[in-house]
Amino acid sequence: MKKKKVLMVCLGNICRSPLAEGILKSKVDPEKVFVDSAGTGDYHVGHAPDKRSIAVAQLNKLDISTQRGRQFQVSDFDEFDYIYVMDRSNYENVLALARNEQDKQKVNLILNEVTPGEDAEVPDPYFGEEDGFTRVYEMLDKACDRIAAKIS
Ligand code: 4NP
Repeated sequence: MKKKKVLMVCLGNICRSPLAEGILKSKVDPEKVFVDSAGTGDYHVGHAPDKRSIAVAQLNKLDISTQRGRQFQVSDFDEFDYIYVMDRSNYENVLALARNEQDKQKVNLILNEVTPGEDAEVPDPYFGEEDGFTRVYEMLDKACDRIAAKIS
């Protein structure tokens, strides 16, 4: 069977989507599912994840430190089957690059896998306190359980 490909998207690709990538990777068979992440912005291209994301991942026995930031590109619509965004702003930014209905249908808010249709957001923890990262981790862990079950 063809590998399923999942892309996690946030703004900077250093806080939320690297965590989502690491968490989902830990829940799926790498032979069957490819997981990557990207940011809608280009501020952190080539950068490692934020120290606070690396730390909360480490507390949960995941190593995300070797990931490097990259920017979302139009060809990602061809490459990936599922594109999960963290908040409504990411959603608008990705949808603005969609070329057709098929592209648009690949994009969904990640928390809609937990609470369908609610359009709930994973808050941007970048300018906040450390506990924001713990909350983000917990939200993403739940969402990735659902995604793993859905695509495995
Ligand atoms: P992320 O968080 O979108 O979860 O990676 C951010 C990281 C950096 C910035 C914004 C959000 N920034 O403005 O540099």
